[in-house]
Amino acid sequence: MHYQVEPGGRLTGQIQVPGDKSISHRAIMFGSLAQGVTRVQGFLEGEDALSTMNAFRAMGVRIEGPKSGQVVIHGVGMRGLKAPSAPLDLGNSGTSMRLLAGLLSAQTFPASLVGDGSLMRRPMLRVAEPLGLMGARIHTAEKGYPPLDISPVSRLHGIEYELPVASAQVKSALLLAGLYAQGQTVVTEPAMTRDHTERMLQAFGYAVEVAGLRICVRGGGALQSCQIDVPGDISSAAFFMVGATIAKDSDITLTGVGINPSRTGIIDILRLMGADIVVQNHRHSTGEPVADIRVRSSRLHGIRIPLHLVPLAIDEFPAIFVAAANASGQTELYGAAELRVKESDRIQTMADGLSVLGVINQPRSDGILIEGGTYHGGSILTRGDHRIAMAFSMAALTATTPLTILDCANVATSFPGFSEQARLSGLRLRVGDSV
Ligand code: S3P
Repeated sequence: MHYQVEPGGRLTGQIQVPGDKSISHRAIMFGSLAQGVTRVQGFLEGEDALSTMNAFRAMGVRIEGPKSGQVVIHGVGMRGLKAPSAPLDLGNSGTSMRLLAGLLSAQTFPASLVGDGSLMRRPMLRVAEPLGLMGARIHTAEKGYPPLDISPVSRLHGIEYELPVASAQVKSALLLAGLYAQGQTVVTEPAMTRDHTERMLQAFGYAVEVAGLRICVRGGGALQSCQIDVPGDISSAAFFMVGATIAKDSDITLTGVGINPSRTGIIDILRLMGADIVVQNHRHSTGEPVADIRVRSSRLHGIRIPLHLVPLAIDEFPAIFVAAANASGQTELYGAAELRVKESDRIQTMADGLSVLGVINQPRSDGILIEGGTYHGGSILTRGDHRIAMAFSMAALTATTPLTILDCANVATSFPGFSEQARLSGLRLRVGDSV
């Protein structure tokens, strides 16, 4: 499936983006492990979150829905999961695989985790090694790639672990294993990463001690079911924030977006570049801050992206690179080597696509330099990466000729209905089956 996007147009109106992907995964996981029935609203009906849901169904959890974002999970308790009869296929979802690696390390049955072509080439030693220190038995393929074959052990034990990379997935995998481990599991992060696991554990009544970048859980507790309202995903909102900023005469409001401070790097970075973003109507839902975000067109200028904002915007760089291509002067990014091991190598995939459009750029191991200016259209390879497809869709707003964006089916992993929403908001986007 590909997108054909004509240049021009402006973004207007109100948009409710789909539910947060990270929070949707965790709602299924903790709801399944809880005692009692957990009701979820605003669940992301995207393929990644559905992969997590299917994995828990395969382990014997009864889950109703999703129906218009509503899901009902009949929790089985901490020890109630059953052995799956086949390998768990987690599709494109790194979050499902890494968090499940932690959880399944502590079960009394073996499990095998597999995924699509992209997931089967993503690094898993970052979870397998520290889980091994806790006593887990996880076998990876060569180079630390999936499949992950997890064998049961009699008991995990807590560890103190300093994360070598800022990764919420690794942190969460260790905390999940820590729920079952003897003693306490202490994880120290090199920089703040998304803390949805910590917040949601607390919403389910599980004690988590957080002191700065140090997080501690004790094994042996239980989760109590609760009601979860999933906010809109700021990572999905990011594309429209960039689109409305770069397209003249735009004015959009993104309603009910999660603005957890570990996720708002996109707002800070765009504002540093000169964007006009107003965050209003602040509220809370299930321990997460939520607000409406109004974005109007403005002129951007290049910046050197502050290092501390990198982990807080880690999924938003494809969109930020499009903003940089529209800014006057140069934008420089360092300290973002993690982008090379996302759903695609996002530094290279974006650099290649920007070059097709005639945007001067210089990729490097941990970042990129982008020279803003005018650019034309062309044919973009997304490498099956949802966020690359959505970022270049927005780039078309200011291109001088049309863009053809190839291999867009995976947009459904995080943003089902993106093409309809984009068209409704003003993008001249058409979906095609073949080119
Ligand atoms: C996620 C953590 C991040 C992010 C991913 C979702 C999560 O990955 O890129 O989309 O839900 O914990 P890393 O932990 O690899 O940075």
